[in-house]
Amino acid sequence: MVLRDVELGDVDAYVRMRCDPEMMAELGGPLPRDSIEAKVETDVRKTRADERWVSMIVPDPDDPAVVAGSVVLWSHDDPDRTAEIGWMVLPEFQGQGLAKRAVRAMLERARDDGRWGLVHAFPGVSNAASNALCRSVGFTLVGQRDVTFSDRLIHSNHWRIDPVRDLT
Ligand SMILES: CC(C)(COP(=O)(O)OP(=O)(O)OC[C@H]1O[C@@H](n2cnc3c(N)ncnc32)[C@H](O)[C@@H]1OP(=O)(O)O)[C@@H](O)C(=O)NCCC(=O)NCCS
Repeated sequence: MVLRDVELGDVDAYVRMRCDPEMMAELGGPLPRDSIEAKVETDVRKTRADERWVSMIVPDPDDPAVVAGSVVLWSHDDPDRTAEIGWMVLPEFQGQGLAKRAVRAMLERARDDGRWGLVHAFPGVSNAASNALCRSVGFTLVGQRDVTFSDRLIHSNHWRIDPVRDLT
C-alpha cells in the first residue's frame, strides 16, 4: 500500500466514495454528483499548497491506476478540533486492513512533519469499522460529539491521538 496526493483525474473514485448510499450510510447519505468536480479541485489545490493532505490509497505500487480509497488530514480553527483525519475505502477493498495501514501511514507523516499536534477523528457512533480502527491505531476515546460533515450533522464518537506519543 502507498499513499499518493490526490489528482484532478480522481473524480471517478470520489464519485464512488461520496455519491454512493452504502459508502455514505454513516456520513449522512450520498452527496450530489454535481458537487464532486469542485470538491476534487479544492482538494488538489489545497494539497498542492500543503494546507491539507488528501491522499489516495494505492494498494499495489506496481498498479498505480487502481485506487482503493482515501485518507485526509486537515485543520480547523476550532481549538478543540484543530487537526482532523478521515478515511474511506471502497467496498471491494474493505476488510483487508487497508484503512488501518493508510491511517497509520498518514499519522506517521504528521508525526514526522510536526505541525499538526493532536489529531482528532469523529466516526459516527454506529460506524463499527471506523471505531475499531481508531482503537487499534492508538486513538483515545474522548467522548461523543455532534459534528458537521459536508453540512450534515453526524452524532459521532470523538477520538484523539498524539502521533508522536500514541501511535501503535
Ligand atoms: C470504515 C472503512 C474505511 C474501513 O475500511 P477497511 O479497509 O475495511 O478497514 P480495515 O480492514 O483497515 O479494518 C479496520 C478495523 O475495523 C474492523 N472492521 C472492518 N470491517 C468491519 C465491520 N464491518 N464491522 C466491524 N469491524 C470491522 C477491522 O477488524 C479492524 O479492526 P481491528 O484492528 O481491531 O482488527 C470502510 O468500511 C469505509 O470506507 N466505509 C464507508 C465510509 C466510512 O464510513 N468512512 C469513515 C468515516 S469516519
